[in-house]
Order: sequence, then C-alpha cells, then structure tokens
Amino acid sequence: MKYRFREIRVVLSMEDIKNSQIRAEIPLLNQIIYLDAASTTPTPEPVVNAMLDYYHNFNANTGRGAYKTAVKATTKFEDAREKIAKFINSAKNEVIFTKNTTEAINIVARGIDFKKGDSIIVPNIEHHSNFIPWLELKKHGINLKIIKANKFGVIDAADVEKAVDGNTKLITTTHISNSIGSCQPIYDMGDIAEENDALYLVDAAQSAGHMILDVKETKADFIAFPGHKGLLGPVGTGFLYCKKEVSENLKPLNLGGGTVSNVTEEDYVFEPVPARFEGGTQNIAGFIGLGAAVDYIERIGIENIEKYSTKLTKYMYERINEIDNSICYGDPDNIHGIVAFNIEDMNSHDVAKILDEVKNICVRSGYHCAIPAIRHLDTDTLGGTVRASVHCYNNKEEIDILAETVNEISKFAGG
Ligand code: ALA
Repeated sequence: MKYRFREIRVVLSMEDIKNSQIRAEIPLLNQIIYLDAASTTPTPEPVVNAMLDYYHNFNANTGRGAYKTAVKATTKFEDAREKIAKFINSAKNEVIFTKNTTEAINIVARGIDFKKGDSIIVPNIEHHSNFIPWLELKKHGINLKIIKANKFGVIDAADVEKAVDGNTKLITTTHISNSIGSCQPIYDMGDIAEENDALYLVDAAQSAGHMILDVKETKADFIAFPGHKGLLGPVGTGFLYCKKEVSENLKPLNLGGGTVSNVTEEDYVFEPVPARFEGGTQNIAGFIGLGAAVDYIERIGIENIEKYSTKLTKYMYERINEIDNSICYGDPDNIHGIVAFNIEDMNSHDVAKILDEVKNICVRSGYHCAIPAIRHLDTDTLGGTVRASVHCYNNKEEIDILAETVNEISKFAGG
C-alpha cells in the first residue's frame, strides 16, 4: 500500500517565521540551547501572562460559584476550550481536558467496554503511554496484535489491514514516534478503521502544535493531545478529542464533583460530555494558559511552523549524519521535529551529558519511555539513543552548534 501523507511544502526559507521575535518571548532560550521539545517546551511570555492574569485577577473555581469572579474564571476556562476546539476543527463538547496525553489515552483504554476476545491493533514503536494500557487489557482476555515497523520506524498500513478482523475493537497508533520522529500513515489507518467499523485512537503527543491536525480529516474517534509540548502550553495540561458519536458510550475514568447532575442514595446521573469526564477541580490557570498558547500558535501560523520545523529537522539530520561515526535513525524525508542518533561506541547518556556540560545543549537520551521502540532500533548496547527535538523557537545557529559539538565529541568515541 502506498502511504497517503499530508503534503508538506518545504519551500520556505528559515525566515518564514519571526524566529527572533518568538525567541525574545521565551527568556530561557538566552541561557541554554533547548533541543528537547519532544519532552516539553519552554513557555512563551504571553502564555505565562495569561496564567498570571488568572492568579492576580479572577482566581476562583470554575462551574461552581455564582459570584462574578467565579463566573469570570468559568468563562475564561470555557473560552480556552472553544479556542482549542476551533483549532482542531472539533465541536466544543468533543474536547475533554486532561492532565496530559497519558491520561487522555487511559480514559480511552479504561472507558471502552472491551469484551474478552476483542482485539486491539497497535504498532511496536509506541510510547509506553500508548502501549502499557493495552498490555494491561491483554491480562483481561483482550487480544493484542502488534504491528512491526520497518527499519525507519514506520508501520505499513497494509499490515494493519491484514491484521484487522471481525474482532478488532480498536486500532491505535502514534502520529509521530516520540523516539524516532517517524510519521505514521494515520490517514490510511483512519480509512481502514472506518471500513472495518473499528474504533480509532491517534496519539498526537509529538504532532500537536507542530503540524496541521484536523481531527475530521484523520477519521479518528479519539485523539490524545498534550498541552505542554508542541502547543507551547503549560505542563499539567492535555486533552482528549472524543467524537460526539462515541463519547456517550465511554465510561469516565474519574467519578466525583463536577461529573454529575443528580445524585440520590441509590444512583447518580452524569452531566453531559465533557463535564462527566472532568471530575474534581481542574488545572484552571493551566487551561487558560493553553488557550493563550493556541492564540500564540495561531499568531505564528501552524502551517508556517510545520514548514519551518520540517526544514529545520532535515537540516539537523543532515548535519549530524555527515559526522563520520554518527548513526542517525529514521528516514530524513519522513521524520518531523525529532532526530534520534548515536555516536558509535558511545553511551547515549554520556553524549547528552557532555553536550550539556560543554555548550548547555539540552537533549534527551536513553529509552525515551519507549523501550520496545528503542529495542526495535537495536541500540541497547549504546544505552538507547540521543534525541534532539525542535520547535519554531529553535534556529539554524543552534543546530550548527549541536552538530559541531557532536563532531568534537565523536573524536573521543571508542577511546
Ligand atoms: N513523552 C515525553 C518524551 O518523549 C516525555 O520525551
């Protein structure tokens, strides 16, 4: 099967986005070379200011108090939901706030009424958060069909098609692998899920805020989003897109305050979606910040970010790949935002520590919460991989410093 990826036009120059203006709004970038966007991103000032505004001027709970300050908090909180919904092209009540992508995936894993004998199709290169919840279900009689990626960390949609049968309840995949940066054929998989009447979950942890993601185009029933990575929002925020048609049948993970419209000593009645999934006081400042982050991304333009990062990622891959004893993983034409690499005979953590010590370069090293994926790359002897990941605030000069420093480090390899 031929992959059907969204077309990415790589025609713009490095000036496509106002990179220096973005950098001026992220003071941390004056101190370090931050190449760990795949873990979390530094928070731009307008996002911090939106949260400060909440704490300074309307710091009350949402959906509860009738007084003006509480109403203002509720309005701003729900405004954020509206902005997010518009950004992903969903309805407002299809956005369920969570604390991170992991929680969003767990809502799906625990919320679907799986029966013994049902099967789930999942690639072998997933982040643990989109793998362990399914392994857990396996203990309860659910059949896991694991699709092996190729040597570039990409799965073939044809293998998914072969694995589907009448028992397939759910097909899931990451959009972009957090360990390799490889883009998966999520649109083909959406077609396969639709044709076979299976539920479909996409983990957008590494693509949200990095590229255009229209939930309707994906045909997904569920998409798990982080707030604190590509979307440039604060930590402790994430959300689950859950298609209207399926959310009524999904069991909430947390029961409690805010989730019900009536309670008797015998029973309770759920609030409509999304409130029924958002038990307890939420990260109010965080979601108001996330709303401001979506405004921020829109100011730059998601299409511009996508083109810019595509180009920067390719540049980073090429600069590292030209180093004599480097090993780069993934296909440079099909990775986004992330370059995973090693230096022959050097432990990945040693490389990362030296980069930090000598040039304040922040990269992640090791197994990236994706042990099966890293084992798939056969990098156990090097302690996993070094992973450098970018966003719109990074620039070519930083990549040059990374490459030159990796080159210097590589001269000591094997010694
Ligand atoms: N999921 C984050 C990562 O891949 C933490 O680094």
